[in-house]
Amino acid sequence: MKFSWNVVRESLRLSSPTQETFREVTNDFTFAGYTIPKGWKALWSMHSTHKNPEYFPNPEEFDPSRFEGSGPPSYTFTPFGGGPRMCPGREYARLAMLVFLHNIVTKFKLEKASKWHNTTYRSMSPASKAALKVRVRPHAK
Ligand code: HEM
Repeated sequence: MKFSWNVVRESLRLSSPTQETFREVTNDFTFAGYTIPKGWKALWSMHSTHKNPEYFPNPEEFDPSRFEGSGPPSYTFTPFGGGPRMCPGREYARLAMLVFLHNIVTKFKLEKASKWHNTTYRSMSPASKAALKVRVRPHAK
């Protein structure tokens, strides 16, 4: 299911269910001319990195082939976070997404039923402002 997993990863890149998360700063450090003191909360954003053209050329384009070969450099694709607090549910989530995709694709035909959709961001998660409507029909037997 290599291709399916690349499709799932590309979806997670374009619209990560978690857009950013926090870390506590354990040492004073300077970044881009700003001093960040120890004890502050830092908000790091996978959303921004996932849309950085330096790592993901044409970042708004849906292109699962980005994940072929060695794929993007480490810590550029982080929908499940990273380090010791990385999502412990990621392998279960991977299985659930692949099983869902397999069943949808093999059992149903999908057709776009509205011309456009619009995504907004509420709190830390993407939300649909105007949902893309999809018509779902079982494949003919
Ligand atoms: C597509 C599905 C999922 C995504 C994108 C996701 C994403 C994330 C992210 C970004 C974090 C923060 C990681 C960090 O700060 O480095 C996180 C933490 C966490 N996730 Fe998930 N998650 C998913 C599914 C799940 C599932 C299925 C479970 C449980 C069955 C789960 C349980 C947790 C828990 C307990 C934490 C907190 C870990 C900690 O703070 O040590 N997640 N997840």
